[in-house]
Amino acid sequence: MNKPHPRQAAIDALAFQLEAGVDVALNEEAIDRFTETPAEETRPETPAAPIPDRGQHAPAANNPSPRSSARAGSPGRDDGRKAASTMSLPAADEAATAAREAAKKAATLEELRAALEHFEGCALKFTAKQLVFADGNPKAKVMFVGEAPGADEDREGLPFVGRAGKLLDRMLAAIGLDRSNVYIANIVPWRPPGNRTPTPQESQTCLPFIRRQIELVDPDILVCLGGPSTQTLLGVREGITKVRGRWFDYDTGTRMIKALATLHPAYLLRSPAAKRLAWRDFLALNAISLR
Ligand code: URA
Repeated sequence: MNKPHPRQAAIDALAFQLEAGVDVALNEEAIDRFTETPAEETRPETPAAPIPDRGQHAPAANNPSPRSSARAGSPGRDDGRKAASTMSLPAADEAATAAREAAKKAATLEELRAALEHFEGCALKFTAKQLVFADGNPKAKVMFVGEAPGADEDREGLPFVGRAGKLLDRMLAAIGLDRSNVYIANIVPWRPPGNRTPTPQESQTCLPFIRRQIELVDPDILVCLGGPSTQTLLGVREGITKVRGRWFDYDTGTRMIKALATLHPAYLLRSPAAKRLAWRDFLALNAISLR
């Protein structure tokens, strides 16, 4: 068999990676795993979630226990950011306790953001580019909570800025709202690799933070966008297509407010016929929301 031309071989390798779900380059240079020494191959104990070995973003000061140094063949890698594979993550229950304590201590949204920046209990932090905390008006009466950032949000550090976000903006505009009078956040503030749905454990670990964020914003109305947000925040077990349009009571920790479950804009992009149902929900929201 003829060897393919190096250019064609590189194109084929890229095509293979795209098909396998690789959609971002995390390092300047590729890491040749075949040339690693046994010491470099050392992996931490079981991470909190199954994460691929994609090095990212943990300031050295925040990572007291990396297991190995920067790998061979990756100069420039040891720039204060450590690979996910070198992190030792706390066990799930420790992470949950740490999250609850950190969230409780935060007296303001700025403190809550800082607490998340320092939080080490969620593996997603180490594969994401940055924290996606919130967008909009922290004094808003209506707060929207999605699932987790995607690639666009990860790049910009703001929630709902990709295609689904543009649709959300149009839906808001249709009832006279925009980001100056709503507040938007996600259950999980770091992008899951490949835009997968956060695992229940990742959502549960981050739950104290989003619950505190809701408490600090103190909206009159909470809107859960999609199934994972509805299930995580409202404790609902049924699927979103069953419960959408339904109003729930939500305890912010200081008072009871109304919460609406509706379809996620990303779902509406895939299933345009469902837009009429979301429209109904937004009309119901319009009927009771206060600007
Ligand atoms: N989907 C979400 O759930 N959140 C975002 O921020 C973007 C897309």
